[in-house]
Amino acid sequence: MLKPETIAIHSWQLNKINTGDVTTPIHLSTTFLRDENGNYPGGYMYSRINNPNRASLEEVITQLEMGSSTCAFSSGNIAGMAIFQALKPGSHIIAPDDMYWGFKKQLLSIFEGILTFDFIDLTNTENIEGYINEQTKLIWIETPSNPQLKITDLEFIASLAKKHDLITVCDSTFASPILQNPLMYNIDIVMHSTTKYFGGHSDVLGGCLTTKNQDDFWLKIKNIQEIGGAVPSPFDCFLLLRSIKTLAYRVKGHCENAEKLANYLNAHPAIEKVIYPGLTSHPQHLVAKKQMRGYGGMISIQIKKGEEAAKFICNNLVLFTQATSLGGVESLIEHRASVEGPDTKTPKNLIRISVGLENIDDLITDFKMVLNKIPN
Ligand SMILES: Cc1ncc(COP(=O)(O)O)c(C=O)c1O
Repeated sequence: MLKPETIAIHSWQLNKINTGDVTTPIHLSTTFLRDENGNYPGGYMYSRINNPNRASLEEVITQLEMGSSTCAFSSGNIAGMAIFQALKPGSHIIAPDDMYWGFKKQLLSIFEGILTFDFIDLTNTENIEGYINEQTKLIWIETPSNPQLKITDLEFIASLAKKHDLITVCDSTFASPILQNPLMYNIDIVMHSTTKYFGGHSDVLGGCLTTKNQDDFWLKIKNIQEIGGAVPSPFDCFLLLRSIKTLAYRVKGHCENAEKLANYLNAHPAIEKVIYPGLTSHPQHLVAKKQMRGYGGMISIQIKKGEEAAKFICNNLVLFTQATSLGGVESLIEHRASVEGPDTKTPKNLIRISVGLENIDDLITDFKMVLNKIPN
């Protein structure tokens, strides 16, 4: 079986065409030739239903996640929403208490009165079964979670879900398929915001779902993708395919830099807490070690002097751009609570860092200078 680095680079072969292109050309045609028998000799009918660039993208993601089929969407949010839309009204969802706030907001504002949900701490494994009721249909996992970097035990949740005949979906955005493959642990569907590590250059929005089995629930999702039409454009797919070729090497670089920065910050007296799954002090470090092949490029830190000091750091770093999102080559920093709004449970002194691919010595020097200047 080919390894991820190879799959990522040879994805173009999946849609080889007669002109001998070495990379996949962008297919802008929205509609495709139908022959006298009513068939589509090129294999494509209409771009909302399918398109050669999207087919290549979906195939390479399927292979990277070791699944059986992928649906690509125009954003991570709409990929997640397709799951909620595919559930019967009245279904109950168990989701993490620090679920990515965009999904939490969808459930609370769009699916209120249609679905029911409990947001619980999925790292407290003994607690979960008590929340399963007759209507429960789905357990939503996010690991590592955003922004608290909690690690959920995929194997445990998958076996609990099988016992109760529940669907499991894992938002694996922070890990990427280079670090973690939830389907290997019997999770039913893995979800990514491809805007993040897949895209890797902060210039394309996208999302995807990959399934282990093409069952009835998956057919519903496929139908939502095709009939709903929230699909990525051929150019978006081209950009993602281009970026995926370097995904494995970028993710390795992000992990290396994040580990060094986490160790530096962990030893600094201005920092109250460093949350990074690679640190042995992380409460689920052993679970991360079991199911991940690296600890990722995301770090959250809590500042001793509180919210104002946290904001001071964000405002004064030079190499860390203060902006939302993550997974790009450039380092980003964010005072997360002020982005999430007044209802957030994220601590006010927490800063989320997306560690980029700059030289790590420069990144550490930047932090060193700012941490030494925090006002009293
Ligand atoms: C963990 C996680 N899931 C999903 C999303 C949503 O993705 P998008 O912004 O592509 O809609 C994000 C975006 O920040 C995220 O961090």
